[in-house]
Amino acid sequence: MCGIVGYIGLKKASPILIDGLLKLEYRGYDSAGIATIEKNGIKTMKDKGRVRNLYDLDGINDLEGTIGIAHTRWATHGKPSKENSHPHMDGTKTFAVVHNGIIENYQELRESLEEKGYKFLSATDTEVIPNLIYDYYKNEEKNETGLLKAVSSTIKDLKGSYAISIICKDLPDIMIVARKDSPLVVGKGINEYYVSSDIPAMLSYTKQFYLLNDGEIAKLSRNNVSFYNINLEDVSKDLKDIDWDVSSCEKDGYEDYMLKEIFEQPTAIRETIGSRLKNNEKVNFDEINFSKEYLKSLNHIYLVACGTAMHAGLAVKPILEKLCHTNVTVDIASEFRYRDPLLDEHTLCIYISQSGETADTIAALKLAKSKNAKTIAISNVIGSSITREADYTIYTHAGPEIAVASTKAYTCQIILLSLLSIYFAEILEIEDTKFLNSLKEEILLLPKKALNILNDTSKIKNFAHKIYKEHDMFFIGRGSDYSVSMEASLKLKEISYIHSEAYAAGELKHGPIALIENGITVIGILTDPNLVEKTVSNLQEVITRGAKVLVITNQEIESKNYEEIINIPSANPLISPVLSIIPLQLFSYYISKEKGLDVDKPRNLAKSVTVE
Ligand code: G6P
Repeated sequence: MCGIVGYIGLKKASPILIDGLLKLEYRGYDSAGIATIEKNGIKTMKDKGRVRNLYDLDGINDLEGTIGIAHTRWATHGKPSKENSHPHMDGTKTFAVVHNGIIENYQELRESLEEKGYKFLSATDTEVIPNLIYDYYKNEEKNETGLLKAVSSTIKDLKGSYAISIICKDLPDIMIVARKDSPLVVGKGINEYYVSSDIPAMLSYTKQFYLLNDGEIAKLSRNNVSFYNINLEDVSKDLKDIDWDVSSCEKDGYEDYMLKEIFEQPTAIRETIGSRLKNNEKVNFDEINFSKEYLKSLNHIYLVACGTAMHAGLAVKPILEKLCHTNVTVDIASEFRYRDPLLDEHTLCIYISQSGETADTIAALKLAKSKNAKTIAISNVIGSSITREADYTIYTHAGPEIAVASTKAYTCQIILLSLLSIYFAEILEIEDTKFLNSLKEEILLLPKKALNILNDTSKIKNFAHKIYKEHDMFFIGRGSDYSVSMEASLKLKEISYIHSEAYAAGELKHGPIALIENGITVIGILTDPNLVEKTVSNLQEVITRGAKVLVITNQEIESKNYEEIINIPSANPLISPVLSIIPLQLFSYYISKEKGLDVDKPRNLAKSVTVE
C-alpha cells in the first residue's frame, strides 16, 4: 500500500525520491508525487498513474532542492486523481506532508479546521495533517522547536494509523517524520538521511537503518538525527546494519520478480532451515525457550494471518496438531480480531506475516496479548511492526519478496512452522523419536527437491499456454493437498484474474460438481498415499462430466484420461505443500504472462496491507 520516501542531504533530491518510489511500486499504488524545497518555496508535482509518469511532468528536471518527500498512494479516501495524490500542503503552502495509513477522525478534524476558515482541496483524510500542523505552528516560534511542538500536538489529535514525513518552507534544513501503526525507517548516509516505508527501497543508498517505533518522532538534518516520543522527550535508538544485498532486491536477469522469487525457493528454504536443523541434532530455536510445563499447559494454538500467510497456517495445522497433540485453529486475522476468541494464558497465538506490517494481523496479535496469551510473530522483515509487538519473533530467511503475489515467503513459512512443530514435539517428548528424525531428514532434502521441480518447467508452461483464455477453474485435493489448492487458487486469481475455486475433493459432490461442464479445467493435487485413490475417483467424476484435468502428484498413478500429469518428488504429506505448490505458482505465472498482464503488480492489490 502507500509508500513514503524522503531525502535530506547534499544531492539533488528529486532523482533519489523518484528512484525510491520506483522501488516501492511493488507495494501497490494508483498515484505518485513528490515535493522538494526550492529557493522560492515548496514545489509539489503529482498525478494519478505510474511513478514513471513523473518524469514527463513539466519542470520536474528543474527541481534543485536537496530536501524532499515523495509518495505512492493506494486510494482509500477519495478516488485516484491529481488532487487526491500526495504530497498535500496546507493553505499557506508552508508545509508539505506525505502520509501512509488512515486518519479515522479526519472528518471531525476537517470540520473544526473548516470552521476556522481552512480550505480543503482534496477528498483525502491526509489533508487535515498539514493544515493542523500549520494551525499549531502559527502560534509557535518559527524554528525547529516550534515545528516539533506543532507536529507533536498534531499527532496527539490524530486517531488511526500514520507514517508521515513533513517538510516546512521556513526550515529547509530539517525534515520531521513520525509513525504509528504504519511502517517507516530512517536510513543513514554520509551527510544525508533517507526515509522510506521499507528497507529494500533504500538499500542501494545505505545499509544502515534506524527503525522507528509507534508514537516516535524523528528530526532529520543533513548530519544529524534526533528521536523523540510523542511528548518530545529524547529517545535513544540503535543503528541497525542490514545484511540484505542490493541484488536481492533486483531482478537479476529474470523477466519478473515473481519468477525470480519462485526460482529462489531452494535457497530461501535452505536459508530458513539454517542452523535450526542439523543432522542428528534436536531442532533449535534460540529465539524462544519454552519449557515442557508451559507447552503441556497449552490447550489451544492459534495460527493467525491474512492471504497467503494464512494458507501457510492451513498447510502446517496438520503437522502442528499431530506433533503437539493440541487443538490448532487457523484464523483469518480480520475475523479473529472481531470475534472474541477464547484466549488466556493456556493459549499460544502464532502470527504469520511476510511483511510484518499487515494491519489486521497486528491488531489480532495485540488482542491476544491483552488476554494474556503468549504471542509469536513469524516474519520475513527484520524490525517490522509485528516483531516489535510480539512476545517472541522468529524470522523466515526468504530474502526480500518484491512481487505482490507471495511465493517464497509461503514455502519458507511452512518450513519454519514445521520446524517449530518438531521443536515443540521434542520438548514435549510425546512423539516417536524415529518419526521425528525421519521428518527432519525429509526437511533437509527439500531444497534439493524444490530445485528438481524447477529444473524442468516445460510441461506446466505448455499446459498454461493451452488454457490461459479460460474464465473458471477448480483446484481440488484432500488433507494438505486441499490447503495447497487454496493457495494455488489464490495465486491464479491474484495475477491472472481468472476466477477459480478451491475445494476439498470430498466436498465436490455437495454442490460445486453442478458447475462442471464440458471443457472446464480441474486441477487435482495428489500427494497423500492414503488419500490418493479417493481423489482419483473424484477426478474421474469430473472427467466423466467433460472436465480437462491436470494432475500434480508424487504418487504412481495410472494416466486415466488426464490432460497432463506433473510428477514432483515424494515427501511426507505433512510437508509436501512446500513442493506441490511450486508447479502451481509457475502455472499462475505463465498464464499471467500469456495474457500479457503485469505479473508483479496485479491490479487493485498491495504487497503490504497496512490498513484494515
Ligand atoms: C497482501 C498480499 C498477499 C499477502 C497478504 C498478507 O494481500 O498481497 O500476498 O499474503 O497481504 O501479507 P503479510 O505480509 O502479512 O504476509
